[in-house]
Amino acid sequence: MNRTIIATAALIYANGPAHLGHMVEYIQTDIWARFQRLRGNKCWYICGSDAHGTPIMINAQKQNLMPEQLIQQTSIEQQRDFADFLINFDSFYSTHSTENQSLVNEIYQRLLTKGDISTRTIKQAFDPEKQLFLPDRYIKGECPKCGAKDQYGDGCEVCGATYSTLDLKNPISVLSGATPIEKESVHYFFELAHYTEMLTEWIQSGSLQPQIANKLQEWLQSGLQAWDISRDAPYFGFLIPGTTDKYFYVWLDAPIGYLASLQHYCETHSQGDSQKLWQAEDTEIYHFIGKDIVYFHSLFWPAMLHGADLRKPTSIYAHGFLTVNGQKMSKSRGTFIKARTYLDHLDPEYLRYYFASKLSSAVEDIDLNFTDFMQRVNADLVGKVVNIASRCAGFIHKHFAGKLSLECSAPELLAQFTKAEALIAESYETREYARAVRQIMELADIANQYIDAQKPWVLIKEPGQETQVQNVCSMGLNLFKILTVYLKPILPQMANQIEEFLNIPELSWADLAKPLLAHTINPFKPLKMRITPEQISQLQEATQ
Ligand code: 2FM
Ligand code: ZN
Repeated sequence: MNRTIIATAALIYANGPAHLGHMVEYIQTDIWARFQRLRGNKCWYICGSDAHGTPIMINAQKQNLMPEQLIQQTSIEQQRDFADFLINFDSFYSTHSTENQSLVNEIYQRLLTKGDISTRTIKQAFDPEKQLFLPDRYIKGECPKCGAKDQYGDGCEVCGATYSTLDLKNPISVLSGATPIEKESVHYFFELAHYTEMLTEWIQSGSLQPQIANKLQEWLQSGLQAWDISRDAPYFGFLIPGTTDKYFYVWLDAPIGYLASLQHYCETHSQGDSQKLWQAEDTEIYHFIGKDIVYFHSLFWPAMLHGADLRKPTSIYAHGFLTVNGQKMSKSRGTFIKARTYLDHLDPEYLRYYFASKLSSAVEDIDLNFTDFMQRVNADLVGKVVNIASRCAGFIHKHFAGKLSLECSAPELLAQFTKAEALIAESYETREYARAVRQIMELADIANQYIDAQKPWVLIKEPGQETQVQNVCSMGLNLFKILTVYLKPILPQMANQIEEFLNIPELSWADLAKPLLAHTINPFKPLKMRITPEQISQLQEATQ
């Protein structure tokens, strides 16, 4: 039975360039979605721009742009980066869209009717010069606990204390340098606690990663607080219906953006009613996210959905952060690598392969270590995989006019390779990509050992051994073809080049068991070059 799957990656803020941290998630999701499609399932990869919020409004002002212009420009650049990393979205849309606005209003209306929305007056820091309420990150001052200077409004990086902005000593507005004043205003809240029971059940459903279930458990035990879903004007976002100066907080409309993006896709691709698709019992929905936004996706989002009589996602797949050479990504340390900077120097498939070789289903950080990266890619992709084809193709062309032999000379090897299918598929399905890569590379070793043992370069010099050379090399290329299917979710471009070389239509999982016999292939062109230390140092220099 073919499955119907919606896979989302977190919507990217339209407020700066995509970096390699984003790429971990977009690649992780892309590999998974490609794997599903390769297996014959319907899988839509849904994403888009997260376009609202104070930082976007302020950045636009700084650049003398309307926020609409800023988000459009940024999104065009980001999408170029994603395309160049071979990220194959079915839909990349925006939270700043009419579809999202009406979905947000509809969901809000339903929550209102359920009695889940309340209002109360709260006190917040206000910039008297800029005339706006300041988010925590826009206030700096001295830590109320340890006195460290130049700390953000929400927490101290020196002693680790968390506190309210209003407790900061000698606070100043990062925007104007003015001393913030305390000001009252009415805010709208979503009564999250109404959904305690539903969320408790969800934890027990077994569909969440253990780490996420544990976190949720902790949050539930400490009691769910009402969630502040409004922001005062000026703000770049959607106006709350019935008000003239209150906007929905960006985190309210962001996840609804998944629905808007899906709706836009369905409408532009004649795929019927997107809410029906979302609601259908046999539709599976997975949100791939970073560990920092689990709270929003595992508490607020399911509660909002449930309150609006919409179904919850099937599961949430959280991953860890990316470190670079063991360090947190940081601009000052030169470990903040923009997607574009990488692309200017290296093949996107090298990074896709490297990330795959490190990713698992656990919520663990992964490290991009450049020495390891270079060695891994050179040894595996160039030294093991591509090597199989380059060793075999020459003989087939030179001596057999590009034609593969009539029969398969090592059926047991072929069987071993095709039988590995179940385990490799399971590794992909469960997001154990590192394990999938290990399983595939073990097979690549076996293929190379076979060629080493048969020695076609010796056989070709012996009289009467021609057919054997053709058999061995054809066998090698058939094993190579199977490896290509297994690697295709990770290396889609190389797989296309190989399809062209093998002179066959697009490979899918169903082609594993069909060897190419008496088939004419095209001339072999080099598929992947080794990474050189120079390329790595150039990338690192460009990052500084
Ligand atoms: O954390 C972030 O980068 C957010 N832009 C993710 C939003 S995901 C979804 F809710 F839209
Ligand atoms: Zn402190």
